[in-house]
Amino acid sequence: MAEYDYDILVIGAGPGGYVAAIRAAQLGLKTACAEARETLGGTCLNVGCIPSKAMLHASEYFDAAANGAMESMGINVSPKLNLLKMHEQRLDAVGGLTKGIEFLFKKNKVDWKKGLATFVDAHTVEVGGEKVSAKEIVIATGSSVTPLPGIEIDNSKHVVVDSTGALELPKVPKHMVVIGGGVIGLELGSVWRRLGAQVTCVEFLDEILPGMDGDVRKEARKIFKKQGIEFKLGTKVTGCTVKGKKATLTMEPAKGGDAETLEADCVLVSIGRKPNTEGLGLENIGLEVNQRGQIEVDHEFKTSVNGVRAIGDVVPGPMLAHKAEDEGIAVAEWIAGETGIVNHDVIPSVVYTLPEIAGVGLTEEQAIEKMGGDKKAIKTSKFPMMANSRAKTNHEGDGFVKIIAEAESDRVLGVWAIASVAGTMIAEAALAMEFGATSEDIAYTCHAHPTHSEALKEAAMGVQGKPIHI
Ligand code: FAD
Ligand code: NAI
Repeated sequence: MAEYDYDILVIGAGPGGYVAAIRAAQLGLKTACAEARETLGGTCLNVGCIPSKAMLHASEYFDAAANGAMESMGINVSPKLNLLKMHEQRLDAVGGLTKGIEFLFKKNKVDWKKGLATFVDAHTVEVGGEKVSAKEIVIATGSSVTPLPGIEIDNSKHVVVDSTGALELPKVPKHMVVIGGGVIGLELGSVWRRLGAQVTCVEFLDEILPGMDGDVRKEARKIFKKQGIEFKLGTKVTGCTVKGKKATLTMEPAKGGDAETLEADCVLVSIGRKPNTEGLGLENIGLEVNQRGQIEVDHEFKTSVNGVRAIGDVVPGPMLAHKAEDEGIAVAEWIAGETGIVNHDVIPSVVYTLPEIAGVGLTEEQAIEKMGGDKKAIKTSKFPMMANSRAKTNHEGDGFVKIIAEAESDRVLGVWAIASVAGTMIAEAALAMEFGATSEDIAYTCHAHPTHSEALKEAAMGVQGKPIHI
């Protein structure tokens, strides 16, 4: 009899876990995956990437019809919102994709162990009343909403909600207050703004979208403001009282000062996410988390406990589905005796608003810091979307593409973009950086005309000092 039930057991079937399980099975390992949810796919497919994009996509059409954007192209329409139907198509997308993972599990012979897995020892977990052992266990338990002290989230009442509640509102709020000017606040705030809500975003810092390039953060806020989102920057929420269907927030300047109140019929708490380690029984295997609650791993995703590895949102790094997926592939490859590589320096990030906001690599601020504060050690170039023929023709002139390159070698250090299709455009920049491209390499690569991507080529030509169309 084999020493263990499985070669590998993955805990969590989000984009990190389900991808690790499928890859491991493809590599010939006997694989099981424990998942507590009723459906596979994790946060991403059930309550994250996919349903939020379903609402963003649908609300974008509504907005274009309602705000005159279609009229300017000769299409006169008076849209009527059928929110129930919009939610149905969101649930359809989620249902189809989560079922798809179930199919892939069956096809690849991955056993789904239903239930919450808890470590018994480093090679055994208890899940669904059963003890399951494996030679290697991968923790891919993801993350959940960071609570704001003093504010009670109750998605069922639709007044103070987290991202899951904000995806499911049964009617458009009159006034929605979004706490946190990060990715979730801006994406879901945009959805409800487009559908008719007045949206106010309260952000603790002096600027929205921390972690992104400084120019991008400033420009993005201007664009969102133009679209109708109000911002209260440098402001912290100190409390919230709910009476019936109304919430009253108290807040004060982050640096201290007079308190003020703000009324809302929906408050979205979106101040970040925290790793899921509660209930996992880490104490049973002597595995500790760091100060941020994350599980530390080495480049083979090994934790400090032999036989236990971890990937995705539960380990340090950006909390992004594609980062989790790539780590899922890599961890399976390490376990199968191969070399699994994830280049953590080249992980694109995208905010799926309109325009989209995307970046990969270093921000200008980080690049200067990396060069010891020497601004002359880098070169930057920005090309406005207004000067890109396709964007201009499509009435999508907001934004720019910005390239940051090392002055001496011309190697591209970072690319940032605000453009209607920036999320698609950034893939080219990531590929270029993965191959160690210089800005000249991008500038001399033939780009199809007329495409938004030509803006990347022109920005690269700008690093060389010779763009054509500006
Ligand atoms: P998760 O997807 O969180 O999956 C972990 C799974 O483990 C869960 O299903 C959970 O039920 C299960 N689990 C936890 N503990 C146990 C246990 N003890 N036993 C059994 N099962 C357990 N990222 C993007 O890249 N693009 C986007 O557009 C995007 N949009 C998002 C929108 C929203 C509203 C949210 C909330 C997140 C979004 N994200 C997006 C982030 C993305 O969802 C996460 O980065 C990604 O899901 C992380 O994958 P993961 O596999 O690490 O964990
Ligand atoms: P976030 O980290 O993106 O933004 C949180 C914001 O809240 C920050 O700007 C922070 O300064 C602010 N904040 C923190 N405490 C505050 C307080 N007390 N009062 C006011 N503001 C406060 O977190 P968010 O938006 O909750 O998203 C969580 C994660 O989910 C993201 O970091 C991202 O990794 C992932 N995600 C990714 C998406 C994508 O890739 N398109 C979409 C949605 C989520």
